[in-house]
Amino acid sequence: MPTALPDVATMRRAIEHAVRAPSVHNAQPWRWRIGPEGIDLFADPDRHLPATDPEDHDLLLSCGAALHHLLLALAALGTSARVERFPDPGHPGHLARVRPTGAAPAPGAVRLAGAIALRHTDHRRFASRPVERAVLDGLVRTAAGWGAHLHVVGAGAARRRLVELMGRSAGLGQQQIDYAAGIARWAERRPGAGDDIGAAVDGRRAGGVPGRPSPRVPHGVEHVDASVLTVLSALTDDRLGTLRAGEACSAVLLTATDLGLATTPWSRPLAGPRVRAAIARDLPGPAVFPRIVLRVGRARDGAEDLPATPRRPVGQVLEVVGPDHPAG
Ligand SMILES: Cc1cc2nc3c(=O)[nH]c(=O)nc-3n(C[C@H](O)[C@H](O)[C@H](O)COP(=O)(O)O)c2cc1C
Repeated sequence: MPTALPDVATMRRAIEHAVRAPSVHNAQPWRWRIGPEGIDLFADPDRHLPATDPEDHDLLLSCGAALHHLLLALAALGTSARVERFPDPGHPGHLARVRPTGAAPAPGAVRLAGAIALRHTDHRRFASRPVERAVLDGLVRTAAGWGAHLHVVGAGAARRRLVELMGRSAGLGQQQIDYAAGIARWAERRPGAGDDIGAAVDGRRAGGVPGRPSPRVPHGVEHVDASVLTVLSALTDDRLGTLRAGEACSAVLLTATDLGLATTPWSRPLAGPRVRAAIARDLPGPAVFPRIVLRVGRARDGAEDLPATPRRPVGQVLEVVGPDHPAG
């Protein structure tokens, strides 16, 4: 007989932490349901940008990150959980069902949950003190543990080549135009509704220069500092592989945060199958499917703490279904 679920208030609290996950353009493309089976995670089609994300990569990465955040939040609240990914073959938007088990969580998960409130996307120049190889190797292992592959790009020629490919992606004619239009549309919706991309980016730039993110090479990539570029790849070129890459993305970002590192996720420069294929060709080892670049480094001495980006209130993204709250 399955163990009783935690009460609704506890599961709601876990979701409040889960929505702190990073998401593309701070779109927060998720919906949650608490029901008799546990917590269900759904993709929110209203918050998907098909023009900029035709293959759902960003959607799935963002939701995967939120799923990983949820598991950590449950751990911090005292329980491990069982995850079923894509539990309903007839409903591809139903991404996961999470059932808290009541078993003691892993201590590492409890610790990592503490990094949720500390992690921020940081576009600034990083310090010139390098990140130790052993730390980077640890991040590679973290990604592997969550079913994805992290490749640490060497400084010099390898980095220059990746940056060149990232710039190429942004210059794909109509795709770029659609992309910029998609971003502009997103930036204009519901200002102040807790999902403003401008709030996510403005004021984050070196020198505080305001403005929308450029669809060309992402801000920060040109910095000459000791940041390291890594490529996070899915192990399979399908929705499950990408969702798991999102979970790994969260695990890598939070592990880095826990180690006192600063991070920047960039998926926009990988928007385009040709660029992804070119990046994949440069990666040694068995075939993998690049999904996102993660920049890792150290904040400069004296760098100010970054403010938290806004989120939609949980009440807007959560439905509770049960005897007292039947599904509508
Ligand atoms: C899948 C994914 C892709 C992202 N791609 C980019 C990107 O290309 N450029 C960028 O500046 N930020 C990117 N971000 C960072 C988001 O803009 C950021 O997570 C969001 O604004 C919330 O801010 P926070 O991470 O500080 O909480 C991405 C985040 C995720 C999860």
